[in-house]
Order: sequence, then C-alpha cells, then structure tokens
Amino acid sequence: MSVVSESFLVHSDMEITYVDPTFCTFVGADSQERLIGVTLTDIVLPDYHAALSEQVERIENKDVPTLGLSVTFQTFTDHHQRAIVVSSLIEWDGIEQVQTAVFPVRNADSEGYQQLHNQAMDEAPVGITIADPSKPDSPLIYVNDGFCELTGYPRGESIGQNCRFLQGESTREEPVAKMRTAIEAKEPVTVTLRNYRKDGSMFWNRVTIVPIRSDSRTVTNWLGYQEDITAEKRYEQDLSLFKAQAEGTDKAVVITDPEGTIEYVNSAFEQMTGYTATEATGVTPRIIKSDQQDQEFYTALWDRITAGEVWEAELTNQTKHGELFEVKQKIIPVTGQDSDITHFVGIEQDVTEKLLTTQTLGVLNRVLRHNLRNSLNVIDGHAELLETEDLDPEARNASLAAIRDQTASMKKISEKTAEIRAIWDLTENHRSWDRFDIQTLVEAYQQQYPNAKITSTTGNVGEIQVRNTELFKKAIDEAVENAVKHADQVPPEVTITVENEPDAERVRVTVADNGPGIPELERQIIESGEETQLSHSLGIGLWVMEWITKTLGGELTITDNEPRGSVVTFQLPAGRSKGK
Ligand SMILES: Cc1cc2nc3c(=O)[nH]c(=O)nc-3n(C[C@H](O)[C@H](O)[C@H](O)COP(=O)(O)O)c2cc1C
Repeated sequence: MSVVSESFLVHSDMEITYVDPTFCTFVGADSQERLIGVTLTDIVLPDYHAALSEQVERIENKDVPTLGLSVTFQTFTDHHQRAIVVSSLIEWDGIEQVQTAVFPVRNADSEGYQQLHNQAMDEAPVGITIADPSKPDSPLIYVNDGFCELTGYPRGESIGQNCRFLQGESTREEPVAKMRTAIEAKEPVTVTLRNYRKDGSMFWNRVTIVPIRSDSRTVTNWLGYQEDITAEKRYEQDLSLFKAQAEGTDKAVVITDPEGTIEYVNSAFEQMTGYTATEATGVTPRIIKSDQQDQEFYTALWDRITAGEVWEAELTNQTKHGELFEVKQKIIPVTGQDSDITHFVGIEQDVTEKLLTTQTLGVLNRVLRHNLRNSLNVIDGHAELLETEDLDPEARNASLAAIRDQTASMKKISEKTAEIRAIWDLTENHRSWDRFDIQTLVEAYQQQYPNAKITSTTGNVGEIQVRNTELFKKAIDEAVENAVKHADQVPPEVTITVENEPDAERVRVTVADNGPGIPELERQIIESGEETQLSHSLGIGLWVMEWITKTLGGELTITDNEPRGSVVTFQLPAGRSKGK
C-alpha cells in the first residue's frame, strides 16, 4: 500500500531524495532542493533517531508493508513539530525507495501551518481517521472531510466513538476479527468489509489501519484510511459472475482492456487456440490472427468497436500451432459509468466442424439424390428391357453390361461415403502431434500400385509433424489413388514432394501426376466451398481431401502440372508453436 497524505518525502535509507512543497513548509525550508541529500535524523529530535531508523530498516527489509511512528521534527526555524510519520516501500525514479507520509498531530508553534495541514488533509480523496488507544474503547480523535463525506456522519457524531459504529447487519465477522487481532498484535492491516452510511446505505469499505508508535514499544495512536470501493467491488462481483458463466460455455470468451490487451480468457479459449490463460493475458488477440483476412477487415472491426458498436463476423483464426479454424465472432464494447469504453468482450464459436458437417450433408444429399437415382433409373430401364420376351442376345448382353456398370459405380460411391464416416471417427479419436514419414509411405504406394512410377522429392525432410497421422494418410491415399486410377499415360507417374522450411509456420506436401488433369468442374466445387453437381466418385474423393485438410487446420489447393496432369497441394500447420 502506498500511503496517501498531504505531505510526504522519499528517501533511500535515511537520505532524502524528494520532498513535496507542503513538507518544505512544515519544516520551514526555503526550497525543496534545500532538503535533497539531507539525512532524516538531521531534522528529527535525537530521542526518535533509533525508532525512526528501525522503522525505515524494517520497511526496506520488507518485514511489513507499512509502519508508523510518532516523532518530533526539529525545523529549520528552530521549532519543534510533532507528527505521525507513516512509511511504506514505493518505486520512485525506477528504484525501490521509502515513502514517508507526514501527518502533523499537534502544532506547537505555527498557526499558519496547522491551517495548511488541515486543508490538505481534508482534500485527500479517502477517509483519514486517527484513534487514541490510551482512552477507553479507542475512540476517534480526528476524522477528515473525506471521512465525513464518505460516511455521511458529521465530525461531531464520529469523534469520541469507536469506528465500529460503521458496521451493521451484514458486516462479516471475519474482517472485523482480522482488525481486532492486528490491533492486539500492534500490526498494520488492510481489510475490505461492508459498512453503512448514516442514511443506512451500504458501501464496501477498504480499511487500512496502521499503528503509530512513539518508540519501538508503545503504540500512541492508530491511523486509519477508508476507501469506498463499492464500484470496484461491484465490477469484481459482476466479473466473477460473468467468468462463472463463461467457464460453462464451449464458446471462447476473451476480455480485453480498451487498448485490446487481454485480461481474461476462459478455458474454451485455451482449448480452441492452444494458448494457456497465462500465455494469453497481457498480450493482444493478434496471437490468433491468421493471414486469411486483410488489414481493411481489422480496420473496419476497430472502427466499429471503438465507436461503441457490436461487431459480428465470420473469420479464420490460427491456433498456437498454426492450425487454421473458422469462427463466428462477436465483439461487444463494455462502457463504464461515464460511458467510456472500459473493456471489450469477445465471444468466438468454432464453426469449422459445423461448416464441414453442412458440406458433408450437402454432398451426401447430392450423391443420394442425383448419382444413385440416376443409376437406379438406368438399371430400371434395362431391367424393363430384359423383361421383353423377344429381346435378341446382343441387346440382352448390352443391358446386362450396363446394369453391371451402374452397380459398380454405386459400389464405388458406397465405399467413398463409408470413408466420410471414417473421417469423422478419426477426427474424434486422435489429436496429438505425431511424426509422419512420407518416405516409407511412398515405398508402400509403389508396392500397392506396381504399374505406376511413384517417386518422392522429400530430400532430407521426409518426416513432418502432423496432428492426426491416420487422418492425413487418408488424404494422401486419396490423392495418390486419384492419380493412378484416372491415369492415361503408361506408366502413370506420381511425385510426392515435401517442403518443410525450418522456421515456416506451414509445411507443404504436394502430390503431382501426369494424368489428364482434374476437371475444372471438380476443382471449382472445392474452391467455392459449395457442392455442385458431382459427375462421378472423383468428386467425393476431392471433398474427402478438402475436409481432412480443413480438419487438420490446413488448406488444399489444386493446380495444373507441367507439361500435363495436376498438382494437389496440402498446406498444413508445421506444429511448431509460435512465440508470443
Ligand atoms: C483508526 C481506525 C480506523 C478504523 N476504521 C474502521 C472503519 O472504517 N470501518 C470499520 O468497520 N472498522 C474500523 N475500524 C475497526 C474498529 O474500530 C474495530 O477495531 C473492529 O471492529 C474490531 O474490534 P472490535 O471487536 O472491538 O469491534 C477502525 C479502527 C481504527 C483503529
């Protein structure tokens, strides 16, 4: 606690490094400079040197945060001034020094000074009280205007009473007992408790009481500070209520100050982003920014929220490990009493999975409605033909072949849709970063497809880190299978390349072939994110790659290969956690 007072000085050990103008007047010095470098004991009567030195030493050693002493000053005009001096440790000029607040308690000589002192003390923004423990029940012998204002009790009704008259029905016993114990032990204490004003209204009072000694043994007075912290307490209570609610939701919740520095995140935020609350507090939400939005997007966001309006948008963020994820975001400006913005509350819902579910349902719906129905129509037609009694054998064979074609295509589609199911199962099961060895995989493909030429240009980076190796293998399987099955060259060539720069946030795995190229229509469906007509099962295969890549927090792109064929590129998070 830094002690509030009308007059104070700062010193390192006993050597004065700063005094305020009121203290100059108090000791009769003609300028502040006059006192710099002076030793404190030079302006205090010898009787108090030992006790004062001990007080300063105990504060510097951090034995106690605050100590008070009743001393007599020897002024430059050769007068004696009694005062209570209360010391505490503060940071001054970048170093730890002792601040000693000075409360003159009796004015031996100067009327003028007393007036000045009273005025300054009364302007203090907190209640200041002095109790006299030598009298029965330690009554108050001084209260400042701040105290009268705070409590509504005029001076005449407080002086002579023990300060417990502020307590009431819902004052808890615990802080009261803490003060009682501290008073018995002659130790300073700070408590927060419910007190009541004269009109009966409750306020949260942060009370600090400090023993004032004449020497190392005798406590002559108690100095008290009263601060109304009702607003602070209410905010604290609202905040803890809010936090309790925030912990119960699966939406990420962030609270920042008006500059955007994070003060609080809930556990859903930790889970969604990979940053712990400790890592996230004190920095800005820039830590989860991805490169998927431009500067204008963020300018528009700040323009809106600093104007006090709610911002809502869907955007792509990035986890600590570089995984992209889609969120639906809402930022709400919170204003204080004077309608200034005090906080921003951000609520983010991860919609990656929802997006994938919607796409999956769309694709399955299309497959069932369109492809399967088409096949069934064809089968129906041929079955009808086969029922014709005088059908010639050639036509009969053609019909049978057509039916077999359709059933084969239906079987393929059925296998592909089973793979979709497998993606969801794998997504749920496994989320740790594991080594993914491309080289071994390439060898396995070569055995699986002996007629193709499968090579890799992984160099010395054949191994990467992947969040879910089994899932990623499915995506690569799909790309290689596509390349081999739709090949029109002998032999079909497939080249797998890995780019893994040491400091890059992403790794790139490409699968290039020399086939006819993936039809424009199929590519478009992935790029637009919307399902259009699927001509054959290749469409589902592309979706499988797209969904797996998105689930892994990456991006899928399809480009032309030179001189022919296509290149499927998986850009994946490298799994190297970024610094703050
Ligand atoms: C200088 C001084 C100021 C005090 N200010 C307050 C106060 O503002 N509110 C309060 O509830 N108690 C205050 N107290 C504490 C009570 O006076 C009292 O010590 C406390 O209720 C515990 O003692 P008890 O068991 O005798 O009541 C103050 C005590 C001192 C010495």
